[in-house]
Amino acid sequence: MRYASITDRLRGLGSGKWAVHFEARRRADAGEGIIELTIGEPDIPPEENLLDVCTEAMHAGRTGYGIGGGADPALADAIAAKYSARTGRTLTAANVLAFPGTQTALYASIMGLAEKGDEVLVGDPYYATYEGVIRAAGASMRKVPLHARHAFHMQAADLERAITPRCRVLLLNSPHNPTGAILTRDEIAALGEVCRRHDLWIVCDEVYEELIFEGRFVSPLDLDELAERSIALSSISKSHAAPGFRSGWAVGPAEFCERLLPVSETMLFGNQPFIADMTTYALTEPSPTADILRTTYRRRADVVTAGLAGSPLVPLMPDAGMFILVDVSALGMDGETFAWAMLDRGVAVMPGGAFGAQARDFIRISLTVPDEDIAEACRRISAFAATASTERPRKSA
Ligand SMILES: Cc1ncc(COP(=O)(O)O)c(C=O)c1O
Repeated sequence: MRYASITDRLRGLGSGKWAVHFEARRRADAGEGIIELTIGEPDIPPEENLLDVCTEAMHAGRTGYGIGGGADPALADAIAAKYSARTGRTLTAANVLAFPGTQTALYASIMGLAEKGDEVLVGDPYYATYEGVIRAAGASMRKVPLHARHAFHMQAADLERAITPRCRVLLLNSPHNPTGAILTRDEIAALGEVCRRHDLWIVCDEVYEELIFEGRFVSPLDLDELAERSIALSSISKSHAAPGFRSGWAVGPAEFCERLLPVSETMLFGNQPFIADMTTYALTEPSPTADILRTTYRRRADVVTAGLAGSPLVPLMPDAGMFILVDVSALGMDGETFAWAMLDRGVAVMPGGAFGAQARDFIRISLTVPDEDIAEACRRISAFAATASTERPRKSA
């Protein structure tokens, strides 16, 4: 049978990146004691109130089709109010589209802005799904190197160098996965100036906005001069430890939302009313969850830093998020070799190269397991690092 080319463009995409993770799962299932620090998802449940609002909404009959439009009216108002307060401009329901998570918002946004022959600029390293989203639209990814010497903050000069006449969109991610970097206002202004000159859209994945340890969050959407070309994407997945609810949104110019609405409706046929109700609650009522996660992940990042002190490995303290990168290059090996060697010693970490060539010398450690497991993993990592100069690490299948 024949299939459309999207299935070829996405076939097998990125599966090699997760090889260490899948092998770790296989060994764990076979009874090996593996400390799994590969993937990250908030490790506390959503707060009770949120679950109550959701179940009450279901019992109250909010289980039918949504009424269409960009979002349930109360949710659209709640999202617009959040972004009005943040940007200092009045945003309304016309600036909002609700989606099942940042991921779907990203998919629909790129579908609406790029197509065959176009290029989408993405900082390298980058979040694992970006390449697939861009390829799905028929466009290709144009990498902008993020350098460890700039703490992986995108530099305007690097962006400028990467731009070709085919570029349509700059896809930013701040706070950033996997590096934990938060772009400053000045950096965004400088990147935005380049985008204005080249008439590029700026799509910013801001899903870690609430998980900031250090520094202040600024979005391209917050800058008046970038508002007409900026789209902010986010969700309650991280802020409210609720990824399974699949509740996110895109906020941007009214014309963008109007153009994208048919794309969204064709995909989704409206949003789920009970999810809209719990998301409205999440956005309008105070929640302890983000505070708990912030404190927990920051503390665990400190556990990693302390646990690796005295080893030749260099942790890069994140400013936000759920991960910490560690530079392993002092051992004369890359992150991939290191990750396979550590798997043989009962610790599963992600090779930095899974997120792009610029993170090749790093491993990414997830901070979403208990402190004592992280501390034990660091003991094993340090012990390996101490012997690694004499021992030749073996790469497993
Ligand atoms: C950078 C980044 N963007 C998007 C997502 C997916 O977010 P959502 O659950 O809102 O689709 C993740 C999940 O880990 C992420 O790390």
